[in-house]
Amino acid sequence: MAKGTRLAGATLLVTGGGSGLGRRMALGAARRGSRVVIWDVDAAAGAAVCDEIRAAGGQADAQYVDVTDRDAVKAAAAEAGTVDVVVNNAGVVSGQRLLDATEDAIERTMNVNVLALYWVTRAFLGGMVERRRGTVVTVASAAGLVGVARQTDYSASKFAAVGFNESLRAELRADRADVNTLVVCPFYINTGMFDGVRTRWPLLLPILEEEDVAARVLDAIEAGHRKLVLPPLVNLLPVLRVLPVGVFDRLMDVLGVNRTMDHFTGRAPGRTGGHSG
Ligand SMILES: NC(=O)c1ccc[n+]([C@@H]2O[C@H](COP(=O)([O-])OP(=O)(O)OC[C@H]3O[C@@H](n4cnc5c(N)ncnc54)[C@H](O)[C@@H]3O)[C@@H](O)[C@H]2O)c1
Repeated sequence: MAKGTRLAGATLLVTGGGSGLGRRMALGAARRGSRVVIWDVDAAAGAAVCDEIRAAGGQADAQYVDVTDRDAVKAAAAEAGTVDVVVNNAGVVSGQRLLDATEDAIERTMNVNVLALYWVTRAFLGGMVERRRGTVVTVASAAGLVGVARQTDYSASKFAAVGFNESLRAELRADRADVNTLVVCPFYINTGMFDGVRTRWPLLLPILEEEDVAARVLDAIEAGHRKLVLPPLVNLLPVLRVLPVGVFDRLMDVLGVNRTMDHFTGRAPGRTGGHSG
């Protein structure tokens, strides 16, 4: 059984902590007694969350960090000090068909959602292994378990995130390192990142609320869980892949998975964040 990390008295760093799920995890961890370090490319949003935590009597610091900038990550990590929990949460999506997405948007998705996992995790993992304590959280997505139309960039990046977590978990087990990994694969969350998406079966595949997902992630960190898939039905989707491709595709159609992005309008304006490519 993997070891959980108690959040009271720990330092938790969250990338993309200025908005959406990251903000909720930052606020929740602070309420559970963590010192929180917020990294975001939206400096104002990160600072606002930091102020919110301090106003409530919690401990927080915010740093402007573009997680795709390797040197900036190293410099900010040196400033952040000892970190017990790293939450790789920053993410972006183009949400365009393959031929409609710009090359820059595709590259950005891969840089933020995939390569940054390496830069940020490498900056803290050595310290965690040495102290025999900590958790590396990778916020992937249900789109990292099944490919979805209009998500060739996003789905592929989240498949990579799931693979990154699984390989790292295997590596840490082989090394008998006392550091846990947790992969998080939620269906759509009501953060504004996927404005306009629809679900055909709201009872089976609901659009999740950011506060609920954040609380579940923090519980999983403390309990030492290694995987969090929400809602539970999503666990079944990759299992269906053993079926012939035609049957699998048909089932995805029945579940409405490939039509979810039909009404996607981009990241909602007027909500925090706004760097979804
Ligand atoms: N919203 C959903 O439906 C959903 C579903 C499954 C998984 N996720 C994943 O959850 C995570 C959080 O998503 P969200 O919905 O809260 O989105 P969001 O847009 O509200 O928040 C993302 C945050 O990441 C920051 N960010 C973007 N690029 C960055 C960079 N280069 N460096 C540092 N920070 C950067 C943004 O400024 C923003 O504050 C993402 O990894 C996303 O892929 C979201």
